[in-house]
Amino acid sequence: MLLGLQMPAISQESPDTRMEWFAEAKLGIFIHWGIYAVNGIDESWSFFNGYLPYEEYMAQQAGFTAAQYYPEAWAEMIAKAGAKYAVITTKHHDGMALWDTQTKGLSVVRHTPAGRDLIAPFMQALEKRGVKKGAYFSILDWSHPDYDRKTRDEFRYKNDPERFSRFVDFNFAQVRELSEKFNPDLFWFDGDWEHSPKEWRSEELKEQILKYNPQAIINSRIGGGLGDYATPEQGVPILRPKAPYWELCLTTNENWGYQPTDRAFKTPSELIRVFVECLRMGGNLLMNIAPKADGTFPEEVDAIMDEFGRWTSKHASAIYEVDAGIPHSHVYAPTTLSKDKTILYVYLDHQVKESLAIKGLKNKINRIWVVGKGNKLEHKVRGKAYWSEVPGTVYVDIPEEVYDDTVTVLAILLDGPIALYRESGGVIEDN
Ligand code: GLC
Repeated sequence: MLLGLQMPAISQESPDTRMEWFAEAKLGIFIHWGIYAVNGIDESWSFFNGYLPYEEYMAQQAGFTAAQYYPEAWAEMIAKAGAKYAVITTKHHDGMALWDTQTKGLSVVRHTPAGRDLIAPFMQALEKRGVKKGAYFSILDWSHPDYDRKTRDEFRYKNDPERFSRFVDFNFAQVRELSEKFNPDLFWFDGDWEHSPKEWRSEELKEQILKYNPQAIINSRIGGGLGDYATPEQGVPILRPKAPYWELCLTTNENWGYQPTDRAFKTPSELIRVFVECLRMGGNLLMNIAPKADGTFPEEVDAIMDEFGRWTSKHASAIYEVDAGIPHSHVYAPTTLSKDKTILYVYLDHQVKESLAIKGLKNKINRIWVVGKGNKLEHKVRGKAYWSEVPGTVYVDIPEEVYDDTVTVLAILLDGPIALYRESGGVIEDN
C-alpha cells in the first residue's frame, strides 16, 4: 500500500471502446467535393488567397451538376479498395453545404443545379456496406456574413463578440443537423486556426456530438486537446507520432479537390508504400480522392483504388489485425506485429539480393510464409556464439517467383511473443 497515493477508479463496466474500430480500420478514403471542382481550382483557398474574386469563385455554383453521381458505386469502390471508413466534405471553408441544411447557410441543394442532398445517399450507401461514416466539416466559414474572418492578422469585425457568437450558434445548428441526419461515426473538423477553442466553444461542441452519439470519434482540429486522434497532413511521418491514435491524410496527386491541371498523381505502388509506413507506425492512412463536378473520378483514381483493392485483399491479415512493428535496426524493411505479438510481418518493396537478414531476434522461428500466396520459406541462423546472449542473424531465402508486384509481405511465426535483443554486444571474457 503506497501511502498518500490515490489510485484512480477504473470502471470495468464501461471501458472506452470508442476508438476500437478506428484502430483496426487502417485505411480510410477522404473525399473533397465541392463547387471548386467546376473550374478545377483550390478548394476555398483560391478566393481567400486572391487568385480570383469571391464572386467568380461563387459563380462556379452554376456548373455544379452532380449529374453522374452514383453514391452506391462510390461506396462500392471504397469498400473494394479495402477502406473501412470514408470521410466526405459536408462543408468546406467556402461555406457551401453538400447536404440539405435547414439553416440559412449556402447549400448545393438551393444554390446549384445539383439541386439535392448529396451527403444523405452516400452515408446510406456506406452504412449498407459496413463502411464507417465520416463527416468533414469546416468550422470556419468564409462566406457567412457573421463569421469573423481573419485576413493578414486583421479580423473584420473587431469587438463584436455577439456577432461571432451568432455564427457559432449557426455552427452548432449545422453540426446538430449532421448528427441527426447522418449520425456520423467520425467528425473530421477543420479550420480551427482562426479562433480559439474558447471562441469556438469546442468543449460544448464535443459534448453536443457525444450526447447524440456517445461512440462518435472526433479528430484533433477543434483545438484544446479535445480530439481523439492526431491528423498529420501530407508529409509522411518519419518517427512514430506521439499521439496514441493518429491518421495521415494524404492527397493522391497534389491537391485535395479535383484539378485537371494537376497530373502529379502518385503511383499505386508509392501510395501502398506510404500505407505500409502508416501501418508500421501504428497509424491509419486517410487517402484523398477528388471527384469532378459531375461526380465521376479521373481514371488515375480508378487505377489507384483497383490496386489498393488487390493488395489489401491479398494481404488482409497483415493489415487489419496488426499493431506497430519493431525498430529498423533489426530488419531493414517496415514491419508490424500480430496482436498477440507472435507473428512478425515484414513488408518488402524490393527484391533482396541473397537473403533477408533479421537481427537480434531471441525467439525461435516456427514457420515463415508469404502472405496471400502461401509459399513457405526456408531460413537459417548464423553467427550464434554459445557463450553470448546476442542472438544469431536469421537469413530468409526468398525465391523470385513469390514476389508481389508492389509490396511483398512475409509472415514470420515465432515460438512465442516476440523478444528482441536491444543491447550492444560485448567482448569474450571466457571461451
Ligand atoms: C487543410 C486545408 C484544407 C483541406 C485540409 C485537409 O486544412 O485548409 O483545404 O481540406 O487541409 O486535411
